[in-house]
Amino acid sequence: MRKPIIAGNWKMFKTRDEALQFVYNVNLKLPSNDFVDSVICAQSPILRDLVRRQGDSLRIGAQNMHYADNGAFTGEISAPLLENIGVEYVIIGHSERRAYFNETDEAINKKIHQAFRYGLKPILCVGESLETRQSNQTDEFVKNQVVLDLKGLGTEQVKTLVIAYEPIWAIGTGLTATSTQANDAIKAIRNVVRDLYDEETAEELRIQYGGSVKPGNIKELLGMSDIDGALIGGASLEVEAFIQMVNAAVK
Ligand code: PGA
Repeated sequence: MRKPIIAGNWKMFKTRDEALQFVYNVNLKLPSNDFVDSVICAQSPILRDLVRRQGDSLRIGAQNMHYADNGAFTGEISAPLLENIGVEYVIIGHSERRAYFNETDEAINKKIHQAFRYGLKPILCVGESLETRQSNQTDEFVKNQVVLDLKGLGTEQVKTLVIAYEPIWAIGTGLTATSTQANDAIKAIRNVVRDLYDEETAEELRIQYGGSVKPGNIKELLGMSDIDGALIGGASLEVEAFIQMVNAAVK
């Protein structure tokens, strides 16, 4: 049985005050992390404050990091620093970073290795554009991303990893993949991992769906055989919506 994982990706939203208020309110109502992992991925300057107030159930993640330990990389964030301040997760390869900050699969692969070196749990994002889906190349495109992004990782690492399948056309658009489309793509990812590794690794790996997930559609998505949670942007900014979506994951 894979434990569901519900992660909020706040992107470039919320001030420190707003974030602390959210965490205070959410902590009063979150179910135990025996049943579901709840994560908030916030902007870097407030991560330390959020970790200090994360309580028993919530865990905190970053939205990006560099693959080097340190160096002349102005504006970047290092894995040693994230580890040092108690961050547990890090989103890697989000489609917005791939599109606006030219992140390649090669860099993403290096970042995943680096995250593991510092005990951080990567949430690797993959997903196709509308054009790719319309030309029936989704499985091939996503498979290629998974193969390149996981290169050189061992089975124990892949079991700890979380993959978020996020079709680009469904992010922030209000268009959600149907539960069948999402489950099929996630099954295909699990098959790639089965081929690359083994049955046990494929069965343990948690794969989320992301793209316009909200309280109204999360139950159906999580009811599918292979969907182990959600990576949520817009709808994770509201306390009540976040709590509802975490509760929807408790079986
Ligand atoms: P959305 O974003 O839920 O606002 O579509 C998802 C994501 O970008 O991770």
